[in-house]
Amino acid sequence: MTDLSATNAVTDRPGGAAITDHFAIGGYSSAESASESVREYLDSQRPATPCLALDLAVVRDRYSRLRAELPTARICYAVKANPDPRVVAELVSLGASFDVASPGEIDLCLRQGAAPESISYGNTIKKPADVAHAHRKGVRLFATDSAADLENIAENAPGSGVFCRIAVDNTGSRTPFGRKFGSSPADAALLLGRAGDLGLDPRGVSFHLGSQQLSTEAWEHGVAAAAETFRAFDPGSGPRMLNLGGGLPATYTQPTPDLAEYTGTVRATLRRHFGEQPPELLVEPGRYLVGDAGVLRSEVVLVSEDTTGRGRWVYLDAGRYNGLAETEGEAITYRLRTSRDGDPVGPVVLAGPTCDGDDVLYQHTVYELPTTLRGGDKLDVLSAGAYTASYSSVCFNGFDPLTTYCFDSAETTERA
Ligand SMILES: Cc1ncc(COP(=O)(O)O)c(C=O)c1O
Repeated sequence: MTDLSATNAVTDRPGGAAITDHFAIGGYSSAESASESVREYLDSQRPATPCLALDLAVVRDRYSRLRAELPTARICYAVKANPDPRVVAELVSLGASFDVASPGEIDLCLRQGAAPESISYGNTIKKPADVAHAHRKGVRLFATDSAADLENIAENAPGSGVFCRIAVDNTGSRTPFGRKFGSSPADAALLLGRAGDLGLDPRGVSFHLGSQQLSTEAWEHGVAAAAETFRAFDPGSGPRMLNLGGGLPATYTQPTPDLAEYTGTVRATLRRHFGEQPPELLVEPGRYLVGDAGVLRSEVVLVSEDTTGRGRWVYLDAGRYNGLAETEGEAITYRLRTSRDGDPVGPVVLAGPTCDGDDVLYQHTVYELPTTLRGGDKLDVLSAGAYTASYSSVCFNGFDPLTTYCFDSAETTERA
């Protein structure tokens, strides 16, 4: 696990990316250049803050990188990461499938042109009415991890395919799932056997190694655990699909392995456990596809410093309740830029605008920001395309939910 206190979101800044770098052949070479492109869009459009701007060209770039690395895998975008209809529509046009968590996400995907058979209901916690809704709309693939949920699927989505989620070690994840989901590999085999008895199709096994998973080795453990469930069946008679879940990272302050390191580990581990007969693959990336595509622009409301040793506090118009929920526990440490970058810097505590004592973004992680920063200045939160707008409250303290502006820098470039 990376030592958070050692990271500094401002001083890691590589020297200004040139605008012409943004459209390098092969797509966005770095999260840095992607962010710069979004910041230019924000500078030119000057929307009211706080807001999220998201470049669909970066989503396309990340999708095609993953497609190239896992050419046979079904890529199901985890809609929860950013349910903006334009993001979903873009991914529909690229041929993506979708991992959804609720009837609301199913309807959203269908409205954007997704085929029902491209939708996988990945939430193991479902009401009977939710399953019936999904089935009515043509969804035929469901995750499960309990006998009660399996009965619910059998009753309300008869004949559907099911995959069983197993609990796996989340070490290395910045936002692990704890013990909320998943059965043991042995119980998964029992559930899949029971699925067959109930007239369902026992399609496969899934796991999720925790979001923002920085350890490529985690996939070794995940694939090994899933292989245990597969081994409980005679070859050719049991599950045939392995769902590798999400977990691929966006670019925050900690270094992340390259995508090829993750996929290389997956390929090698599959060979070790499945030999020449690998299962069908499915992946459910959320953060990886949209994280680096977005920049959350905020405004400094107030800077306060007193003589009691509280330090320098910078209060933004964006906080825990209107976009920056993932700063809870300082789990996600975003890269930051300000309109005064280049001036001398000093340590700050960063906080949101509400009257809630928990609305503090970073007080343990060392962030250094320009000492000249004052009310009215802009502060940009980079790689903020995932789990920001979708986590934003509807009106805590009377603040509006985070507005999203999608644009396409490739189209802008062509028009220019
Ligand atoms: C079932 C499932 N699949 C995929 C994802 C996406 O994970 P990530 O954003 O880490 O790729 C999540 C996130 O919570 C999830 O719950």
